Amino acid sequence: MTNHLKAATRDCRVRRVIYSSVAVGDDRKEDRVEILRVSRANNGLDGVSGFLWTDGLSYIQVLEGNPETVTLLLTRIAADPRHRDVRILSDQIDGKKAFSDWAMGSLTSDRDGAVLREQVARFLRHAPDDVRTVFGPLVANG
Ligand SMILES: Cc1cc2nc3c(=O)[nH]c(=O)nc-3n(C[C@H](O)[C@H](O)[C@H](O)COP(=O)(O)O)c2cc1C
Repeated sequence: MTNHLKAATRDCRVRRVIYSSVAVGDDRKEDRVEILRVSRANNGLDGVSGFLWTDGLSYIQVLEGNPETVTLLLTRIAADPRHRDVRILSDQIDGKKAFSDWAMGSLTSDRDGAVLREQVARFLRHAPDDVRTVFGPLVANG
């Protein structure tokens, strides 16, 4: 393979990380809105996709994308003062993304989200095991 071709060959592996954390802050609803706004803007540019669940007390997020990009993003997120106790629940390399259409999907535990909850439940039926194991009970139990 020539150097030119090597340079053109992109890393096609996807790193998918799921973590939980404890929400910190006086206005978590406002935090969530702001986190989603910034995430959707940044992740769209960085080719990162994922999903953020929160009940106002904890966050559970899945992030997937180029392995180096995800590592840098995780470092940034772990240092964010709006949460603490970031714990990795699953960390896998996969051949393709599970959430490719979602720059950052989101679900809260409130009862108004029934339609979205059903959409996510449908999506989860075909999701990889690591994603289904963590998010399945959250979507089922609200
Ligand atoms: C629970 C949580 C999830 C976050 N998820 C993302 C994310 O997916 N993408 C992102 O760019 N920033 C995310 N952030 C925000 C980052 O910590 C950081 O504030 C942001 O990336 C800085 O972006 P900026 O340099 O464009 O201001 C998250 C923060 C928290 C607390």
